[in-house]
Amino acid sequence: MIRLLVTVSILLLLAGCTGRDEKVFPQIATIETEGSLLGVHELAVNRNVPWELCWGPDDMLWFTEQEGRVCRLDTKTGVVDTLLVLPEVWFKRTAGLLGMDLYQEKDGTIEAFLNYTYKQDSLITSRLVRYELIEDSLLNPTLLLEIPGNTAHNGSRVKIAHNGLVYWATGDAYVYGNAQDSTSLNGKILRLNRDGSIPADNPIPGSPVWAWGFRNMQGLAENSRGQWYSSEHGEATDDELNLLQPLRNYGWPLIEGYLDTEKEKVHQLINQQEPLLAWTPTIAPAGILYYESAQLPALQNSILLVTLKAKSLRQIKMDSTGTKVLSEEILLDSVFGRLRSIAVSDKGIIYLSTSNRDWNPAPGFPKSTDDRILQIRLATERKGNLLKSKPALVQETNDGAGLYLRYCASCHKPDGTGVMDIFPSLLKNETVTGDKMKLLQLVLKGKNQMPSFAFLSDEELAAVLSYIRQSWSNESSDITTTYIRNNRNDR
Ligand code: HEC
Repeated sequence: MIRLLVTVSILLLLAGCTGRDEKVFPQIATIETEGSLLGVHELAVNRNVPWELCWGPDDMLWFTEQEGRVCRLDTKTGVVDTLLVLPEVWFKRTAGLLGMDLYQEKDGTIEAFLNYTYKQDSLITSRLVRYELIEDSLLNPTLLLEIPGNTAHNGSRVKIAHNGLVYWATGDAYVYGNAQDSTSLNGKILRLNRDGSIPADNPIPGSPVWAWGFRNMQGLAENSRGQWYSSEHGEATDDELNLLQPLRNYGWPLIEGYLDTEKEKVHQLINQQEPLLAWTPTIAPAGILYYESAQLPALQNSILLVTLKAKSLRQIKMDSTGTKVLSEEILLDSVFGRLRSIAVSDKGIIYLSTSNRDWNPAPGFPKSTDDRILQIRLATERKGNLLKSKPALVQETNDGAGLYLRYCASCHKPDGTGVMDIFPSLLKNETVTGDKMKLLQLVLKGKNQMPSFAFLSDEELAAVLSYIRQSWSNESSDITTTYIRNNRNDR
């Protein structure tokens, strides 16, 4: 009898140990990247367009569903609870219950900040509402802000900053003039206190507008340094990933993607800011996060991006300052269909949601188990679908910095310092800052280990050579496209 009791209590102890750990969900795929294995686990099936995922202060995975539901998934058990059903959500195509973020007040109250589309008669609006979690329900709604909405381009993502302020990435509501009108609240990053009032230190006194010139943002993230990033859908071309800064103008609808066409260059926008990345053809970027955890070293210091049209999970590696893109890898390509949202837990475990039951499913989708919520964590074995990460197709970045990173930095290094005795430093270098003709001929012809760059267009050569002549305290004049056209003798 005693022996039996001992055995039972040991079993209970063991069960208790595993019970306290996260539940192990079925591993349906394995991604191999940079020598690490990442397991993709299936947490929930048969959901209906989980639009936003957030890791809660209660250590549970919260999510919105576009039709108007807020749910909470306990990752220790897999049980999903519904916390709120919002009947007044106007759910159609891209409108509905969209972004959400959570905040825990000092007294322990958890608050949910929700954005949804609302329609009364023919008037469509986009609402930002705060709820309180009381027992297992979201109650006591407070309308913080209501702005014009439309049948499309309602954005939106909501994020509570580390400093407790609310950042709201709004869509332009399909009105071309909105994004460039600093008095309109559409096509903006708005910054608010949690009670909806305007922070005293906002860049435009008395206005929630913090940055502008956006079309239809679908991703918003802050890293631990307080740097902000957004993803945005372009029109026919030029989806964007942006590094957000106060009072900057991100160009829409006058400038799409990089400032690279003659038509765009006639616009001299004050505080105009180019994207970190632009994608043509478009990929429909959606949720983003800045991954900093040591849990998955292969993903550290990267922006993780999920996409709808391109049906991918991408890793955008950033430099140590978070201001430059080093590379773009595709970790998931098409296997799970459209991907809408991405979140990370305190432990560095990643969560993703599919969006195959939305208005625009890809051929072959939805599958019978859609929509799904997936988890990515370190794997010890290969299981399920075996996948390998691969570089994204290199995009045309026509600005000098982007061309330099793509074509020159592998040898001369991103900061131009080169490698001693192998690749010359380009800082205060006579060949760089001196005679334009000599520099052009060297880059066209190459020299010893230095390859020829005659394949670059006149515009690209002008951009990259001007860039090296004016970076890293080099202070030489730029080199124009006309100069290159008149002086290149290689064709
Ligand atoms: C594969 C490595 C490699 C790449 C890529 C490369 N370079 Fe170089 N570069 C070199 C080497 C090696 C030299 C020295 C050549 C020599 O003197 O024999 C050099 C020399 C130079 C010099 C002359 C510096 C000096 O003082 O002698 C300039 C200017 C320069 N590179 C610019 C560029 C630019 C601009 C790009 C990109 C468009 C580029 N390089 C890409 C390897 C590279």
